[in-house]
Amino acid sequence: PVQKAWIEHDVAQCGYCQSGQIMNAVSLLERNADPSDEDIAQAMNGNICRCGTYTRIKAAIKTAAKEV
Ligand code: FES
Repeated sequence: PVQKAWIEHDVAQCGYCQSGQIMNAVSLLERNADPSDEDIAQAMNGNICRCGTYTRIKAAIKTAAKEV
């Protein structure tokens, strides 16, 4: 579901950070199936994206959460 949501939201730009972002998103959703904006911000805080895809990452996590 996370990979599908990433594609649906066209999250990646250069792609360099994306494997780590996806792994962290999966870990978050395993712990919290309905994360708030604050939960997502806290959980994803350690993953830096130089391309600034944070808004799309948050949207994709919310989409994936509906399917997990
Ligand atoms: S997509 Fe380029 S660093 Fe995140």
